[in-house]
Amino acid sequence: MVATITPPQTAAARYLLDAQSPNQSLLPLTAKVNSQDHLEVGGCDVVELAARFGTSLYILDETTVRTAAAQYRDAFKTHYGGESLVIYASKAWNCLAICAIVASEGLGIDVVSAGELHTAVLAGFDKGKIYLHGNNKSLEELKMAIEHQVTIVVDNWSELRSLADLTQGRDSVQIMVRLTPGIECHTHEYIKTGRIDSKFGFDPNDTEKVFEFISHQPGLKFLGLHAHIGSQIFELKPHEDLGPVMVGWLSKAKQYGLSIAQLDIGGGLGIRYTESDDPPSIDEWARVVCQSVTAACEQEGLPLPKLISEPGRSLVGTACVTAYTIGGHKTVPGIRTYLSVDGGMSDNPRPITYQSLYRAMVANKMSAPIDQTVTIAGKHCESGDVLIKDAELAATEPGDILVIPDTGAYNYSMSSNYNRIARPAAVLVNGGQAHLILVRETLEDLLRHDRLPDHLV
Ligand code: LLP
Repeated sequence: MVATITPPQTAAARYLLDAQSPNQSLLPLTAKVNSQDHLEVGGCDVVELAARFGTSLYILDETTVRTAAAQYRDAFKTHYGGESLVIYASKAWNCLAICAIVASEGLGIDVVSAGELHTAVLAGFDKGKIYLHGNNKSLEELKMAIEHQVTIVVDNWSELRSLADLTQGRDSVQIMVRLTPGIECHTHEYIKTGRIDSKFGFDPNDTEKVFEFISHQPGLKFLGLHAHIGSQIFELKPHEDLGPVMVGWLSKAKQYGLSIAQLDIGGGLGIRYTESDDPPSIDEWARVVCQSVTAACEQEGLPLPKLISEPGRSLVGTACVTAYTIGGHKTVPGIRTYLSVDGGMSDNPRPITYQSLYRAMVANKMSAPIDQTVTIAGKHCESGDVLIKDAELAATEPGDILVIPDTGAYNYSMSSNYNRIARPAAVLVNGGQAHLILVRETLEDLLRHDRLPDHLV
């Protein structure tokens, strides 16, 4: 006889997991259910936050971000014999408050545009810990990076030549070189970056020509190599394979007289969006990366380079929940019930872009029995604006607060104003205090860049 496993029948029982590694939790680490049967995050009642700040609302738990940062930092210290630096891939969510938290944890930062760089500088990052990435950096961005003396991760020939020109007669600029390692991993097509057919990084066949070129450029101070193989990865093998590939190239660089001070193996560790997701912990991931690089260096007879890792999603993803107010519903007999919320693809474009799965719960009914299956629809004029298909929820009424967890990574940062809907506010919660870190956009904000030519006035 096959035993059937019945999933727990309340949101509290189903989603409040006891995970040690933040990326293995479904809710922020401080999440609990209070005496009013409301979801609480960072000591704040989510239903009260919704009333105070309005919805849709991003609620970010400081403890979860700091715990993830500390776990990364400590894991690399424990498992690696050389120097290490964890840098936050701020494309996951770049804003002053998050940058300031990450900087205060001693991490560095990966930025990919003038905007992200400007924010990181204002947030007070040590310049030596800022790395500028990007496959098509503008001349202005390169100049800005040079002025701020941050490290530039060079992606292609045209950028390398521009940098060589820009640095003629100047003090040297620190660069790393991004290579496409040719490593496949199981993740969504759009977020694979390490395979050969990728827009990012130098083709491996060009590696020696790149080293040769750099070795004749006194203005370019080569620090080492970078690769990033993809995102939301649950397997450890691709990162285990990456170590020897990268160290092999470091050896080649040495033959061209280049120093091999740093090796950046990118980010990519996945997080748990649903109960069936099973990512390795931060510590396990770091251990595999460290062992693989250490073994490869021993093999090649190289000293251990400073090992840089670049997590984004696994630092902030689980730390945030988005709160919405439930509005109207529509039942299509025999097919489904749509439950609409006051946000959608403009604050969370991941379901429509990657068919990403999320879970949801009713923040004011955490211990009520889950007894309906509904489709959570956003409010945008687009049939595909569905946040969750077949969400299992307690019975709802208009005005209830719906919470979708795991919205810290690539939600705010990929948000839009589609349908001229203002971006939500974001609050940082900790110890029962809530601080506004992003103000809700207003109608004036939406019109700030509009100009009316004279003949239309
Ligand atoms: N380093 C580089 C060079 C990257 O391109 C990325 C992510 C990271 C680090 C951080 O990867 P993570 O640890 O977050 O997996 N918008 C997509 C994800 C795109 C990832 C882009 N690059 C999503 O919402 O799933």
